[in-house]
Amino acid sequence: MPGISRLSLADLHAEIKEIVELNIPGILVFGLPNRKDPMGSEAYLEMGIVQRAVGLIRKLAPELVIATDVCLCQYTDHGHCGVLRGGSVDNDATLRLLSEVAVSHAKAGADIVCPSGMMDGQVGAIRNALDTKLFQDTAIMSYSAKYASSFYGPFREAAESAPFWGCGDRLGYQMNLANRREAMREIDLDLREGADIVMVKPALSYLDVIRDARLQFRAPIAAYNVSGEYAMIKAAAANNWINERAVVLEVLTSIKRAGADIIISYFAKDVVRWLHETNT
Ligand code: PBG
Ligand code: ZN
Repeated sequence: MPGISRLSLADLHAEIKEIVELNIPGILVFGLPNRKDPMGSEAYLEMGIVQRAVGLIRKLAPELVIATDVCLCQYTDHGHCGVLRGGSVDNDATLRLLSEVAVSHAKAGADIVCPSGMMDGQVGAIRNALDTKLFQDTAIMSYSAKYASSFYGPFREAAESAPFWGCGDRLGYQMNLANRREAMREIDLDLREGADIVMVKPALSYLDVIRDARLQFRAPIAAYNVSGEYAMIKAAAANNWINERAVVLEVLTSIKRAGADIIISYFAKDVVRWLHETNT
């Protein structure tokens, strides 16, 4: 996507410097391994790409909030968020691996781990593993209400993580987009399992879900303005069909108005610059 790149460790210095100068409070780190395999082994290597990146970022920017995506889909050769058994995801075997991923990120210096695989019980399993390894202070931001959305297309292309073995979609674990009450149930379960922050994803087509969550729960709510939402605006702006700046600010304000406390967005750097221009 325009303005978005996959970075190597060597690129981190310049990127983190820019983020710190812009006063962006936090980042969400994703990894792309050298080699993918059925078990997603590189996701929980002590010297895996995310673990090394987090260690480096922590040195470069001691104050920056570092959150990490905890999932297997970038690391499995079949592209699913968990390990497979007999053509479908083995939920409980996956929980053990996700716990290892989360602990390895915490060990590397992550402040917040963010399970995004929608496995049942993942927040409880990760909380338990973190506490056992004495990472009681590491927070969990759970992708609680994560829909099986078509808006993840550009991300999956960048991460080479489209699922294709067994079933070619994530409907076995991500939510059906027609369901609304189920999202409240998922959020409720995650909070009971120990989530500190709960997330609704995507954001723009799910403002009603963000609103419902805001009205029902006291916990901080995050909304993820995903890759397809970014791509649509970029494409329209490149054609001069819309005013990019005005539309982005309108979209992000609507996500905030719906009730999000935290917005995760690929527009973050642009927005900070625009807001700064407006204020000076
Ligand atoms: C991994 C993950 C995905 C995204 C964030 N974490 C992809 C997916 O579920 O297929 C999507 C992010 C985006 O589209 O910007 N589970
Ligand atoms: Zn995943």
